[in-house]
Amino acid sequence: MMHTSFSVHPFEERLEEAFLRQTSDISLMISPLMVDELNKQANAEIYSSCLYLAISDYFESVNLKGFAKWMKAQAREELAHADRFYEHIIDRMGRAKVLAVEQPPFEWSSPADAIRAAFDHEVKVTGLINGLVNLALSEKDNTAFNFLQWFVAEQVEEEKQVDEILQRLKIGGGQGAGLLLMDSELAQRKVS
Ligand code: FEO
Repeated sequence: MMHTSFSVHPFEERLEEAFLRQTSDISLMISPLMVDELNKQANAEIYSSCLYLAISDYFESVNLKGFAKWMKAQAREELAHADRFYEHIIDRMGRAKVLAVEQPPFEWSSPADAIRAAFDHEVKVTGLINGLVNLALSEKDNTAFNFLQWFVAEQVEEEKQVDEILQRLKIGGGQGAGLLLMDSELAQRKVS
């Protein structure tokens, strides 16, 4: 009998993969708990984006265009962070889920108050990332652990950047010529 070589069409492979994803937990490469927690973190990143957009709008309202532009760039980075979490879930055959996002605050009492809100939020996000790392360790999920290391390093940078602005505001840049100088410096940041 003649041997017939048979190759599975990529579309059929994808159908089979989708079927397995829906019908059997055994096919999942990532635990349901980890999927839930990563989806929650994506939501936290989207909230970060909304918060920073709200802070950017506050700076627009007090005519600090450089601060506004800098915060808008932060807001866009946060959306990219959320997408990283969704992509990780999808790559591992989990189901990404977009959750409702809480409304951020609207007003701050001063530029320093607004930047402090951003700093405090970054500290909170660092705690969330560390919680995910601990979950990855407890689940022996080396892939998630490895994925999360990018965020561990990123949080150091994020806290440092915002803290530098806050410290400069505290030591005299919070008003007058110092504030305007900072504003023109922050305006140099590119918004992609
Ligand atoms: Fe995505 Fe600024 O933490």
